Amino acid sequence: MSVHIAGTEELSRAPMAATIPSSCLQDIFRAAEIKERTTGARVTKLHVGEPYFNPPDDVAEAFIEAVRRGDTKYSGVDGLPELRAALTEKLNRDNLLDTTASRVFVSPGSCQGLSALLQSLAEPGAEILLPELHWPVHLQQSLLAGFRPVFYKLGPDFRPDPDALLAAAGPRTRVLLLNSPSNPSGAVLDAELLGTLLGLAREQGWQVISDEAYEHFVYDGDHFSVASLERDVPVADRIVHSVYTFSKGAAMTGYRLGYVAAATDRAADALRVVQEANIIGTSTPVQYAGLAALRARAAIAETNRARVLANRDAALPRLVEAGLLHELPAGGWYAMADIGRTSMDAETFATRLLDATDVAVVPGNGFAWHPELDAAGAIRSAEYAPWARHLIRIAFCVDPQELDLGVRKLLDFVRDHTAE
Ligand SMILES: Cc1ncc(COP(=O)(O)O)c(C=O)c1O
Repeated sequence: MSVHIAGTEELSRAPMAATIPSSCLQDIFRAAEIKERTTGARVTKLHVGEPYFNPPDDVAEAFIEAVRRGDTKYSGVDGLPELRAALTEKLNRDNLLDTTASRVFVSPGSCQGLSALLQSLAEPGAEILLPELHWPVHLQQSLLAGFRPVFYKLGPDFRPDPDALLAAAGPRTRVLLLNSPSNPSGAVLDAELLGTLLGLAREQGWQVISDEAYEHFVYDGDHFSVASLERDVPVADRIVHSVYTFSKGAAMTGYRLGYVAAATDRAADALRVVQEANIIGTSTPVQYAGLAALRARAAIAETNRARVLANRDAALPRLVEAGLLHELPAGGWYAMADIGRTSMDAETFATRLLDATDVAVVPGNGFAWHPELDAAGAIRSAEYAPWARHLIRIAFCVDPQELDLGVRKLLDFVRDHTAE
């Protein structure tokens, strides 16, 4: 189909959104659902990042109370003032940022906050640096915002190497995306590496987006927020925009609540315009639920961290012993296992594993789609990085017994299909 606009050349390309594949997470989600619906089987779900624990009752009570009180009106583009004040206090105390409520935005999930941030930073022709192994939503959002994605190489431990970053960058690079702890690899970037990357970004004139969705799930040492390194930099000169969520630490996935700390007042002004156009505001009762979660955050986060860590230590060492995992993930909810010895590619493996054992995992190639764009920014080719062909992602935030069963079945399946 083509659209003609008088005085312009004919537009004949497909809209960008129509050329981006659906996330690999959605594909396996659908396949697992179909399997359950059509065969009555109960699928062991190691594919989605859905925790087996729930938010405390106070969170639900606060939500219900807000609805009963009639606190169901629009709450303002950037969020309820009392929630933003509490978030500012959390960011400054826990993450060691130096921010003010005027730069803090509540969003319907951090996914939406990230997307809005990308839109607010996009410039025609600008490039964004993404890790070569990335959460597919980061890529989808970058493309939809109009960025040209460029992928930086990761080391064997899935951590970025500053030289590789410089090698990937060019004169049109504007944004560096960091995600620690990482989805999908579980890699954690320490203060030293983050300092080096921030120095590089400053030197090169890039903005930094730091996705810290899994901040409460660091297993060796503490989480480090890269924006804390800018405490002593004048606000107008800062470059780090940080994104957080209630979905992981407080297990509030379905509430849809996240928040963004913009680096500067100028960036906050741009983000406000994007949010005016996109959301008008975040659900008001959900924000009251968020306030309740924030009050109890230390206890909630520590309990939930201990739960996922216990899962990691109970189930994943078997994958390490079997040689499928290089090492235990240092953070997050996921591990990337290598099933190369089965001589199946990851998509075939995931499909056959689901068929034969009712265990769902995500094929890793979906985290390494590297599209090439033409000069006008349209997707010209869509290749998966060949090195990701034998990787699968396993979520270990699920019920401990499910995880145990899933890992056992997966190991049996790998053993039965190992090429001699
Ligand atoms: C790396 C990362 N960032 C952000 C999110 C978004 O979470 P939410 O939109 O639920 O806040 C997720 C969810 O899986 C994620 O894995």
